[in-house]
Amino acid sequence: MDLKRRQFLAWLGLAAVGSFNLGNLGCGGRGFSAGSLLQAPAQGSASPPPSPSNCPMRNNLGARPRMDSATGTPRRLLRFGHLTDVHITLEQFTFTGHPELETLLDSFGEQIGFGGLDRPEIQERFDVDTLRAMVKTLNAAEPPLDFVVHTGDAVDIGTIPELVGFLSEMNQLNSPWFQVVGNHDCLGMGNIPPALLENFTDLDFLNKQEFIQKHFPGKAQDRSRTAFGSQAKGFDFSPASGGNPPGIRGYYAFTAVPPISGGNGRLIQPGIRFYVLETSRAAGKALGHVDADQLRWLKTALDGHPQSLAVVVSHHPIERIEEGGQELKNLLLDHPQVIALACGHNHMHRIQAFKNPSKPGNGFWQIQTSSLIDYPQQGRILEIYDRGNGTGAIRTFVFNQQASGQLGKNARASYRSAAQERFDGSGSAQDRNVELLFQMPVLN
Ligand SMILES: [Fe+2]
Repeated sequence: MDLKRRQFLAWLGLAAVGSFNLGNLGCGGRGFSAGSLLQAPAQGSASPPPSPSNCPMRNNLGARPRMDSATGTPRRLLRFGHLTDVHITLEQFTFTGHPELETLLDSFGEQIGFGGLDRPEIQERFDVDTLRAMVKTLNAAEPPLDFVVHTGDAVDIGTIPELVGFLSEMNQLNSPWFQVVGNHDCLGMGNIPPALLENFTDLDFLNKQEFIQKHFPGKAQDRSRTAFGSQAKGFDFSPASGGNPPGIRGYYAFTAVPPISGGNGRLIQPGIRFYVLETSRAAGKALGHVDADQLRWLKTALDGHPQSLAVVVSHHPIERIEEGGQELKNLLLDHPQVIALACGHNHMHRIQAFKNPSKPGNGFWQIQTSSLIDYPQQGRILEIYDRGNGTGAIRTFVFNQQASGQLGKNARASYRSAAQERFDGSGSAQDRNVELLFQMPVLN
């Protein structure tokens, strides 16, 4: 039992903690059990995410209204949901039956991220219920969401049964949704390359290609149906989305809002494009990586759509991208239409301003959201506004699941368990419910 929570504590830099009451689930020696993934989740309906009455304004980028129109009329352009790091996990997984796995993990380990594996039993048992409760809450959103994005770590150990559990719940969303490859989605336990795991046949480990292809229940290569629309579930590699790389690379772009022309050749409203990155390292280890090919693709894609605001989406925040992170940051700062980078990985709410030092008022917001497996188990809603005065705003707030019935009870039990843990990813007030100002690019 004392192996439980080992990696989690390592990540926190805490010494081994002696006694965690994990109940009598007999986790020793069994090796692996699909546990709750084999049980139907509980039932219950849900209320909408509660919208806060007050979202204080942050203007760390120094956006300034145009002199000629200091008081404009705000117009909402987009409303979307952000979930991240759901970490559906094989309940009762333990290293006890897999000492070789533990050794392998240790070899990648000193900067290990959330190895998962070791969370309290209640959180593991009700992970699917927590996701289902959150999906129902998002479905109840009023006004409805244009789509939802999940920024990676759908699974925890990195196996096919976990992904099936994730997909069967996410595909109940009544809006389109988009997926990102996290390090747990393509590396065993978030760290180990699948090639090193082929001998562990009792665990059906995913690799990146399998992770992506499992999102396409029909023909594995049928990419046409993923063009952004009501059928978008997972990845949008459609050429119709414009500028996507040939083949399946794990990164892609799509148009969330097309620009609107005033009919005289001038734009009266910018579009909004999403650029989804793949930052996980195929060579192993939890930290991020963006290679030169992907950076080139991103530059070309951004250069090709200067009249659409750009929201970049990745699993890792910039400071956790060990290779290519600085280049990525500079590339985003070089494109004034980039207003935000939405990401996860750290399992905490955090909002940072990245200013362009040579262009006052310009830069982008990095918006991190908490995990559903760790406290505070919250999602986020983001609304992008044109304020009509030369500035724009991202109004964002976080929320917990709002389910009733047995579903709500189970999800709240998981929440209470997470609340007793040492890890608190809730951030400060300015990381949660805020209005983030940005400079609207000049349209012509
Ligand atoms: Fe994660």
